[in-house]
Amino acid sequence: MKPIRIAVVGAGRGAVYARAAAALPELLRLELICDAQPQALAHWRDQGIRTVEDFQHVLEDPDIDAVCIATPILLHAAQSVAALKAGKHVLCEVPAVWTLDEGRQLLETVQQTGLTYMMAENCCYCRPMLVVQEMIRRGVFGELTYAEGDYLSPAPGLLFTPEGDLTWRGRLYRDEFCNTYPTHSLGPVCLWLGVNRGETLERIATWRTKTQAAAHYARRIQSPDEALYDPAQWRLPDGMVTVINTHSGTLINHRLDWVSPRPAVGNRYLLQGTNAAFLWDRSVNPEPLIWISGRSAENAPLTPASWEPLEKYASEFEHPLWREHGAAALKVSPVGDDYMVLRDFAEAILERSEPLFNVHDALTASAISPLSRQSLEQNSAPVEVPLWLQNTNA
Ligand SMILES: NC(=O)c1ccc[n+]([C@@H]2O[C@H](COP(=O)([O-])OP(=O)(O)OC[C@H]3O[C@@H](n4cnc5c(N)ncnc54)[C@H](O)[C@@H]3O)[C@@H](O)[C@H]2O)c1
Repeated sequence: MKPIRIAVVGAGRGAVYARAAAALPELLRLELICDAQPQALAHWRDQGIRTVEDFQHVLEDPDIDAVCIATPILLHAAQSVAALKAGKHVLCEVPAVWTLDEGRQLLETVQQTGLTYMMAENCCYCRPMLVVQEMIRRGVFGELTYAEGDYLSPAPGLLFTPEGDLTWRGRLYRDEFCNTYPTHSLGPVCLWLGVNRGETLERIATWRTKTQAAAHYARRIQSPDEALYDPAQWRLPDGMVTVINTHSGTLINHRLDWVSPRPAVGNRYLLQGTNAAFLWDRSVNPEPLIWISGRSAENAPLTPASWEPLEKYASEFEHPLWREHGAAALKVSPVGDDYMVLRDFAEAILERSEPLFNVHDALTASAISPLSRQSLEQNSAPVEVPLWLQNTNA
């Protein structure tokens, strides 16, 4: 079987796919890198890789089988649909879509073309997430009742260029009023809960903080646009909490905040079942923790010391992807997630199978952006999660 010939579109985050592809030569060959800014391409051209500035050239290139889209968020849906219509398989960065209309168009195009579409939700492919997935599959958690997924990444610097002007993320924060980045939290949580595999999301509601941090940051770095020092110029709140209930009665709590000043945090997850609990709070402890009734200490009352490192159970509950490919993945990056994403994408194409994180998973997690917008615009009223974007036949 010939390797899939890929083009990477967007040379920032896209570089991780270029690197991971080099570790999968039997499956993939990096053929082309596309970026609208010529200066982003120089490094790749120097390495002898073909480069183009215009995405249209990628679409028209008969030597490209698949594209890895890593451009600014608002371009994802249109570029994914255009690539599918041009006969290319698509791996797209997060989130997959920005509006429900885009979601419907993407789903229809995937169904009409029969090509592979996958959203690169790398958090789902991290080893602890998949150990937990395997524990759930083998009944360790019992009935799942509650889950948390938070994305708390203090990165106000990403809103500004070194000169203090707004980047595309900065413009998003200034102009948009919704949860802009739900998938790192809700992608893994939805997989754990079996959403699109018998479970569905029913309703969401989003509450918000006031809007302060981005304006304070603009003043602190002395942005040349002094209007940005005024919080009223920014639409996106500093933080928001989205609450979701599922058909079977599980509650999900998802907090997003990536501008408030504080020490580096990151993703935070909690999963509660009737028999076990999982906690990964990377803000205070890089080590994921587990407590399993009947296996962990059952001293009463349970104390923080009752948690055990997930690692203690990792080899017993290793997910097949990690059992087979973990060593190779960890040679590419310390977490190995990008290698796993790209491998799963390539194997889905070659074997005509569903990737671990399929198009319905992409749409379910990404739809939280437009649905949170509806909720926020109605003063945090609950809104229904449409069934058409979820897989109700599984
Ligand atoms: N999964 C993750 O952990 C993760 C991490 C970082 C970024 N991301 C996602 O990756 C995407 C890119 O983020 P980034 O940090 O690399 O941004 P970035 O601004 O650093 O890079 C985006 C690149 O896209 C290029 N670009 C813009 N419009 C283009 C077009 N029409 N055609 C071709 N190239 C175009 C820009 O010139 C730029 O080089 C975003 O969607 C972001 O959400 C995901």
